[in-house]
Amino acid sequence: MKQKKIKSILESNAIDKKCSVQGWVRTFRANRFLALNDGSTIENLQCVLDFEKLDDSFLKQINTGAAIKLSGILSESLGSGQKVELQVSNLKILGSSDPELYPIQPKRHSLEFLREKAHLRVRTATFSAVMRIRSALSFAVHQFFQQEGFFYINTPIITGNDAEGAGEMFRVSTLDLKNPPKDEIGNPDFKQDFFGKETNLTVSGQLEAEAYALGLGDVYTFGPTFRAENSNTSRHLAEFWMIEPEMAFYDLNDNMDLAEKFITSVLKNVLESCKKDLKFLDERFAKEESSKPVKERSSMGLIQKIEFVIKNDYRRVSYTEAIDILRNSKPNKKKKFKYPVNEWGIDLQSEHERFLVEKHFNCPVILYDYPANIKAFYMRRSDDGKTVRAMDILFPGIGEIVGGSQREERLDVLKERIKEMDINADELWWYLDLRKFGSVPHSGFGLGFERLVQFITGMGNIRDVIPFPRTPQNAAF
Ligand code: 4AD
Ligand code: MG
Repeated sequence: MKQKKIKSILESNAIDKKCSVQGWVRTFRANRFLALNDGSTIENLQCVLDFEKLDDSFLKQINTGAAIKLSGILSESLGSGQKVELQVSNLKILGSSDPELYPIQPKRHSLEFLREKAHLRVRTATFSAVMRIRSALSFAVHQFFQQEGFFYINTPIITGNDAEGAGEMFRVSTLDLKNPPKDEIGNPDFKQDFFGKETNLTVSGQLEAEAYALGLGDVYTFGPTFRAENSNTSRHLAEFWMIEPEMAFYDLNDNMDLAEKFITSVLKNVLESCKKDLKFLDERFAKEESSKPVKERSSMGLIQKIEFVIKNDYRRVSYTEAIDILRNSKPNKKKKFKYPVNEWGIDLQSEHERFLVEKHFNCPVILYDYPANIKAFYMRRSDDGKTVRAMDILFPGIGEIVGGSQREERLDVLKERIKEMDINADELWWYLDLRKFGSVPHSGFGLGFERLVQFITGMGNIRDVIPFPRTPQNAAF
């Protein structure tokens, strides 16, 4: 008999048909009613064990978490919320599960507890829903760019350059840490290392994507990136996935338009393709919110929030305007910000971003034209000499979800910036070449994939939207 996934059984409504399924026991009641889940859908298949008699030792093996194979006849379900249930005529235990030891019991577990059981947490309704949405979302990302005529490129994971210039990189080396070869002045001699030079895990594929945009036109990357920043927050991972489109002949406005269109498209796609998982997470979100103090509660439900972002244009506000708003804001005047806003030029903290998005504008915001000295070297300098053509997209509850810019395409200006910022130009010779041969205006942005998954699933902590999170002091699994 052909094996079927529970999703297709529930969708097909095949009453009186024979059927065989395999999955994991979620609950088993009264030695008779079994809820089976195989990961294909949030819903369990209700199964009724109607054997004359089952011996005790066999029944004892049917525990939460055990893997079983069932076959029988589908019948109309009278009780539960489902249309069909399986009248079981045959049951085989594939993998037993000791109820004393299996940590995922049919009760509410805290997310913190489940993080320690990251290898088993996908067997809960919440995590399976999040991970199915994550999968649908990655597919939607590729679909969007492919439909728009972009080419998917893979940029190196091991690299010698620090694209963001923040120096937050993980070293890649095969040198013996205890006894590295030394150079003339006593430092580790990286000439003797695997690549004959210092290398790191990449913080961004942007610089290489630029090279490809200036040949293929419109490209995107979607790959892992690594940052050794010691940020123990609910929005930072040391290993995260980033989507980086890069477009030749785009200016900053084209860049913003594309980013909005892209986010709208993937949100719509997932609203349509993950209805059941989203409904479940919407209810979960409502429960979570109701347990918070009234002041901190989200004013919208999860699905409502997604629909709101789809329907409304983002507010585009220059950094300078934002500083004015913040300077004159109530929390600033009442000294409620941890970092007071006094002068033009400061880097915005997440408390400021949240004020703008969640209190002042109450919608997603694109901040643009930032001061040059708080942004990366590759951003295009504006005529005012003070700002660069940068843009950040800020989302409610998330903060920065996208960072992007128009790139500096003028060789002399770029060289000057590199010098000003004291960046080692040796590694960037090829990047400068791009400005010598057929340079054109171009732009791009990076979207943190996990932050988008957080927004759609309503999960408060970024550690709960990636299978095995890497954060400071934590690389288990
Ligand atoms: O703003 P960032 O640093 O921009 C870049 O890396 C550019 N090279 C992108 C480009 O223009 N091609 O990072 C982009 C996005 C952020 O807006 C945020 O969503 C996410 O990446 N991000 C992180 N997500 C999770 N954990 C971290 N530690 C992150 N750091 C950045
Ligand atoms: Mg940024």
